[in-house]
Amino acid sequence: MLSNLAEIEQEINSFSVNNPEELEAFRLKFISRNGLVTGLFEELKSASRDEKPILGKKLNEVKKLAEGKFNSLKEQFENAVEAGDKLDLTLPPAEFSIGREHLISQTLAEMVKIFREIGFKVTDGPELEDEFYNFDALNTPAHHPARDMQDTFYVQNKFDKSKKYVLRTHTSPVQIRTMLANKPPLRIISPGKVFRNETVTYKNYFMFHQLEGLYVDKNVSMRDLKGVLSYFFKKFYGENTQIRFIPSFFPFTEPSGQIDISCFLCEGKGCKTCKETGWLEIGGCGMVDPNVFKAVNIDPEEFTGYAFGMGMERLTMMKYGITDIRILYQNDVRFLDQF
Ligand code: PHE
Repeated sequence: MLSNLAEIEQEINSFSVNNPEELEAFRLKFISRNGLVTGLFEELKSASRDEKPILGKKLNEVKKLAEGKFNSLKEQFENAVEAGDKLDLTLPPAEFSIGREHLISQTLAEMVKIFREIGFKVTDGPELEDEFYNFDALNTPAHHPARDMQDTFYVQNKFDKSKKYVLRTHTSPVQIRTMLANKPPLRIISPGKVFRNETVTYKNYFMFHQLEGLYVDKNVSMRDLKGVLSYFFKKFYGENTQIRFIPSFFPFTEPSGQIDISCFLCEGKGCKTCKETGWLEIGGCGMVDPNVFKAVNIDPEEFTGYAFGMGMERLTMMKYGITDIRILYQNDVRFLDQF
């Protein structure tokens, strides 16, 4: 009987059960009233007095094994049925979460659209720039504070240490590239990334976007500049938007101006966003300096031009009431999804 028991034990272990039908077959074979294990209990009655306790103990172990396997499989199948019941196959499928245009890309597209409609062509320039385009040709001599290591990321050529590049600190080098490659009249905008070695705070980031504008022709005046910017901001922020120029300085424009727009939130009355002044600073502009024209072989006696540059993050933040620039670059979908 003992060898018989070992055999049954092995059979119980190797009996494969993959569905409720097979489980029932298992039950019938081993633990039902006519099953093998029950049969052995009958046999036990006729065992000798000495054998009985040993056989009985072993038989009980085999019984437990069979019942254990049966119960755990039974539970498994019942759970599977329950889970199946909970699936509602009539539900529409879960919505795909697809990417979305970044807020800055949206602003960029909107700005480009407005300027293109009035004849500006979009041009591009490299982000890793030569000092000549970023500074020298823009009438920014070597001792100018803007070239200070604190503002500019310098990049050294690993193989030729005499070659130094900069991550462009503004989009103005595109002016130079455009004027060197083309003859006036020129009417371009150039949006893109710029980099400054600044401490990151709620209002400063080491990378941001600018949109550069340049118009060169005969008899271009400051009135044209103001007209174009005024048109742009009315389209971008609404018809009631006013602009004003505040005297300023840039090495590559003369005269130079700071561009202010009337606060579109309070319409100039004064609020928290405009710090009660009614005006918001939005960029820089001016008439192309004759020295810049000379650097690109354009005769300043024959041609004049205007240029402007605006920060896209600033425009965007003001438009949507965003108070911390860093949130634009944290890639938090919960934030980005709102726009
Ligand atoms: N490049 C200037 C800046 O980054 C902005 C500017 C552009 C000013 C064009 C005048 C003309 O601050």
